[in-house]
Amino acid sequence: MVLSAADKSNVKGVFAKIGGQAEEYGAETLARMFATYPQTKTYFPHFDLSPGSAQVKGHGKKVAAALVEAVNNIDDIAGALSKLSDLHAQKLRVDPVNFKLLGQCFLAVVAIRNPAALTPEVHASLDKFLCAVGTVLTAKYR
Ligand code: HEM
Repeated sequence: MVLSAADKSNVKGVFAKIGGQAEEYGAETLARMFATYPQTKTYFPHFDLSPGSAQVKGHGKKVAAALVEAVNNIDDIAGALSKLSDLHAQKLRVDPVNFKLLGQCFLAVVAIRNPAALTPEVHASLDKFLCAVGTVLTAKYR
């Protein structure tokens, strides 16, 4: 997934608008993913997944921080998320299809919370970015 200069700028722009609310975006993304695609809950048997739970909030914060890290290193997402890639591909072994589901939920949260920011061009760039992150996190299966 190659991000053009315009994609990178669009992604940075939308994350600048998200700013300090990234943690809330992360928690809401997870809550939507668990509600809309309940099969994703199978990876979290040890979590309290009820809406608004401390664990969903805490995990949303971690996921959001990883996305911000990827944006801050948008020219080297693989390097920035290398450890997370080891974790997801080698230890957690999350089926790659789930990354698309999480990405769709993140897009829905942006659309709801910041509709003006999600122009068609930004939507396309953000989708490419989320696919790139998913590709990195599922790159090390063996
Ligand atoms: C853990 C990020 C997608 C399942 C984590 C952690 C981060 C993270 C930062 C915490 C790592 C640590 O504590 O060291 C991401 C990002 C994703 C993504 C950025 C995509 C954009 C997914 C998906 C699933 C998943 C799609 C499954 C549906 C898990 C599980 C854990 C985890 C089960 C361990 C939770 C725990 O026991 O604390 N992820 N993740 N992740 N992730 Fe992901």
